[in-house]
Formats: sequence, structure tokens, C-alpha cells
Amino acid sequence: MNKESLAKVASGIVASNRGILAADESTPTMGKRLALIDQENTEENRRDFRQALFDTDGVEDYISGVILFEETLTQKAKDGTRLSNILESKGIYPGIKVDKGAHPMDSSPSEKLTKGLDGLYERCLEYYKQGARFAKWRAVITIGEGIPSDECIQANASALAKYAKACQDAELVPIVEPEVLMDGDHTIETCYEVSEKTLKTVFKELENEGVYLPGILLKPNMVISGSECKVQGDMMKVAEMTVKCLTESVPAEVPGIVFLSGGQSEVEATEHLNAMNKMGDHPWALSFSYGRALQQSALKTWNGQKDNLESTYAVFHHRAEMNSLACSGEYSSSLEI
Ligand code: 13P
Repeated sequence: MNKESLAKVASGIVASNRGILAADESTPTMGKRLALIDQENTEENRRDFRQALFDTDGVEDYISGVILFEETLTQKAKDGTRLSNILESKGIYPGIKVDKGAHPMDSSPSEKLTKGLDGLYERCLEYYKQGARFAKWRAVITIGEGIPSDECIQANASALAKYAKACQDAELVPIVEPEVLMDGDHTIETCYEVSEKTLKTVFKELENEGVYLPGILLKPNMVISGSECKVQGDMMKVAEMTVKCLTESVPAEVPGIVFLSGGQSEVEATEHLNAMNKMGDHPWALSFSYGRALQQSALKTWNGQKDNLESTYAVFHHRAEMNSLACSGEYSSSLEI
């Protein structure tokens, strides 16, 4: 493990108010996204939309890393250029999703455990050779009747830690993503409790595995009411409870926290990040690693048509810029178009 270079990549990703685009939807998930615009889930459509995002002029001012699905890491544009080379040529780090999905747990089938540890170190070595410099593993924690169980939190935390160690041994910066889902009618207070317990368990396991904290990024959910909860927290409550939860659970050696959007609208995800950064300095950089909250409008604008490329670039550029402004608390809703 080369600690110096891992720390350099991790802190570089969250430097200068930049963040991450999560474009690592699995092929079936990408199918659901393309269905929203009545497009078929072909390799060409997946590539053309993702290439439109990567080709956007100036997006490198706001985006420092892109998480790719395995297909995209080695995929070529029509002119033969590898998509990952387009990113590298702009100073954007290519990253790779390395988990094999969240599967129902034998002992508690309504809960999930993320798989993918078998042969992981060898795969990471190969991804590094192919240009990846960071990786992602997503654990999923569901809130519901009697869940999450301690066993689910513990098993996912343990797998996240083993993943993080394998990545660092192969010189990839691990993004550690324990996502407490927004699905359900739980209150923001319940989300807080579950998120805190999950994060504390994850950091205990990371320590047990000997993971080097300056060489990771944490990708958590924000502390937010369930999507079906009647009482939705206001913007400041989400920001304050999220920062409190992170302050209680995340060691200061972690260079950056890059939130997932988790089903928030594009503007909500930007507003919440902005409100947290407006609160003042934190021990870690607070940035974004959004999937839907960076891509939704761009996907609708593209609509599967080459003729819409210029407007797609403009829409994606705008969204990325708004989130970059939110990294310094300088976003305002009056800047929305
Ligand atoms: P969302 O921002 O759409 O939640 O996606 C981020 C991600 O990568 C989830 O693993």
C-alpha cells in the first residue's frame, strides 16, 4: 500500500470544490433509466448518453472523478477512443464499481448484504492497470418493522472494511458507501439513529482491518425523513442533523465525505449540500457523489437524440456547476435556470 499516493488521490478528488459523478448504474438499472425516455437498453445507448456527460466542455472544473460500471471502463467511443481516456485527458479520475450487488440475507430476507469479496484483490489489480484510481462498494441498510438488525449492520460493515483493505492493497482509493435508504415512512430522528449506529460500526471495522483513513472517501446518505414520512424535515434540519451525525461518527483523518443523493430531487440535493457547507468549516471536505441528482435533467434533455447533444452538455454543465458552488456554500436557488 502506497499511503502517500492513496491520500493524494483521495484528497485530490474533494479539492477545489469538485465532486464525483456516479455513472456506474448496472446494466438493468440503466435499462430503467433509459425506459424513462423510451430508449432501448443497448450498449450503444448506454455509451452515447455517458459519453455526452464526459464530453461536456468545462465539466472538469466541477467533477474530479467518475464512477464507472465495468462495461464503461474499457468501452470505446465511435472514433475508437476509450471513454476512460476522455476522462483522464481532462484530469478526471476514472473509478470503478467493484461490488456484485446487494442480495437478501439468508437469516433476514428483508435485509440485504453486499457481495463481491471473492477474487476482489485480483480484480482491483486489473482495474488499476485499466486506468481506475478509485473504487466503490455500496452497502444497503433498510429501515422498517424491526429492521435494520444488528447482524445486517455488522455484516455489511465488515464486508465494507474488507473491501476497503483489498482496494488499498491494490492502490485504489476505496469509496466506502453505507447507504441508509430513504424508502419508508420513518422519521428523520430514526434515520439519524440508524445512520449513526451504521457509521460507528463501519469505522470500527475499518480500524480492525487496518484501513488507512486518509486514503478513503466516505459516501453516506444525508440524515433525512423517509420518503413516505408525513413530516419532512426542513433544509436546515437536514443539514444540521447530518453534520451532527457525521461529527459524532467520522474521524477527522477522513479527507472527504461525498454524499449520495438517494432519491432527493436535483435541487434538494444541491440545497442540502450547500446548507451544510454554509454552516462553516468541518474536519472533512463535504462534497457530492451524485447519480440521479446529476443526471436526471441531462437524460431527459438528451432523449436519445444526437440533435440534443449541445443542450445536454449545457444542462449537465449547469447541474455540475451548481453542486460545485454548494461545496463552498455559494449556491443560491436564484442561479437555477
Ligand atoms: P444516487 O445519487 O442516485 O443515490 O446514486 C449514487 C450512487 O452511486 C448510489 O450507489
